[in-house]
Amino acid sequence: MSEQLQAKFQEAGQGHVFRFFDELTPEGQASLISQAEAIDLDELTGLIDTLVLGGGENISGFGDMKPAPFIPLPENGGDPEQWAQAGAIGEEVIRAGRVAAFTPAGGQGTRLGYDGPKGTFEVTPVAKNTLFQVFAEKILAASKRYEVEIPWYIMTSTGNHDATVSFFEENNYFGLKPGNVKHFAQGTMPAVDFEGKILMSDKGQIALSPDGHGGSMRALVRNGAVADMKARGIDCVAFFQVDNPLVRCIHPEFIGFHVQADSELSNKACVKSYAAEKVGVFVERNGKTEILEYSDLPDSLAEATDADGNLLYRAGSIAIHVFSLDLIERIGTNADPNAKLPFHRANKKIPTIDESGNPVEPGEPNGVKFEMFGFDALPFAKNPVVIETARAEEFSPVKNAEGVDSPESSKKDQLRQFARWAKAAGIEIETDETGLPAIEFEVSPLFATSAAQLAERVKAEGGVTIEQGTVLT
Ligand code: UD1
Repeated sequence: MSEQLQAKFQEAGQGHVFRFFDELTPEGQASLISQAEAIDLDELTGLIDTLVLGGGENISGFGDMKPAPFIPLPENGGDPEQWAQAGAIGEEVIRAGRVAAFTPAGGQGTRLGYDGPKGTFEVTPVAKNTLFQVFAEKILAASKRYEVEIPWYIMTSTGNHDATVSFFEENNYFGLKPGNVKHFAQGTMPAVDFEGKILMSDKGQIALSPDGHGGSMRALVRNGAVADMKARGIDCVAFFQVDNPLVRCIHPEFIGFHVQADSELSNKACVKSYAAEKVGVFVERNGKTEILEYSDLPDSLAEATDADGNLLYRAGSIAIHVFSLDLIERIGTNADPNAKLPFHRANKKIPTIDESGNPVEPGEPNGVKFEMFGFDALPFAKNPVVIETARAEEFSPVKNAEGVDSPESSKKDQLRQFARWAKAAGIEIETDETGLPAIEFEVSPLFATSAAQLAERVKAEGGVTIEQGTVLT
């Protein structure tokens, strides 16, 4: 068995994976065999040929490209009636139990420099609640409001799975029913060096890394989540990343637009703040709506402006989507050979071993990781929808340790949102010219998840007092 496997690796030019096989304990040998068996060598060889040894990703056709259209917010020229109708439809769909939440949380969070699953990062200004708690409470709030069970599927990766599950257990699932929270680990891909050789992280350990959030399609099928959703009568999967505490996890208008258009993949766009902002942009290429990742958009196009002087490609993707279950299943089962997510290449510093088996900590990128992106499903989706959303209400991610998209900038944006909502509810709050309140306070999602809900609560309670350190909960 092992000889056959080794011969296959030898033939594919990857025989070195077993270089130290004879030195390993029987358990070590068994572990290496199972790691090697899990690798699809044909797929990997194809990726090495095209993405590593070949010319890299072939993104062309910029000539025919144009900005993708989107449905503007009522305040920016959209039809208020259309939005109200979408809201009513979405609410019905949620009440009918057709919606699940999904979060890919398998990323390694290297940019933030935080050691632990990113969802366990403390993000709110006063209560210091974690990202996972914020999302859990938003889902719980929606579930109470619409009197329905809303299951939440969370994709982890092998490196953070156990820590993530323990975190939920220790915190009693933040009030959600444990049976409605499902964790599962995403798949992995071997990393290779610039010659296309599989990197080893130890004598008996292949350097494996998460296969990107696009791996969620396969993982949702493989781990039974798709079957579970079907059994529950779910057909809309509300997708949001682990890094953005402002996200409206369960958003009636968004779900309404998605269902009304009979769409298989709906998306939210925010107007980009500046040309180099690190968000993908919505484009139309070859007649299809796509998200072009920021790293693939040439500077000249990122900076191009239209006749009004606005950025031409200004519809930024904030990675909030509604997927139809059909699309997830079609892609995740490989049912349609024409709907396969491509892999992308990322050059990374990958700890490895040298020819004698000694550890090597590279100071510079020494290899390539392969990742799929979930939004690459867009060209395969029927009737894609893009709606505009207000940045201040929905997007302030925690990505970097400092500066833009940092814990500090996100905290300020949360405070600004709470202050806007409080003012709209008739509460006096002193703010500076950016809308930042002079005091720090917090509105828990269990109290309100929108300005309108806060106003309702304040009215119902005959007014509330907000001072430094208040947490409305
Ligand atoms: C992402 C989007 C970008 C978008 C921006 C908005 C990608 C490739 N790019 O950029 O288009 O404009 O967010 O904030 O997604 N994850 C996994 N498994 C993995 C890799 C990532 O679950 O193998 C999860 C992360 O935990 C996170 C999300 O996917 O929730 C995004 O990953 P990240 O690498 O942080 O993407 P960004 O570069 O921030």
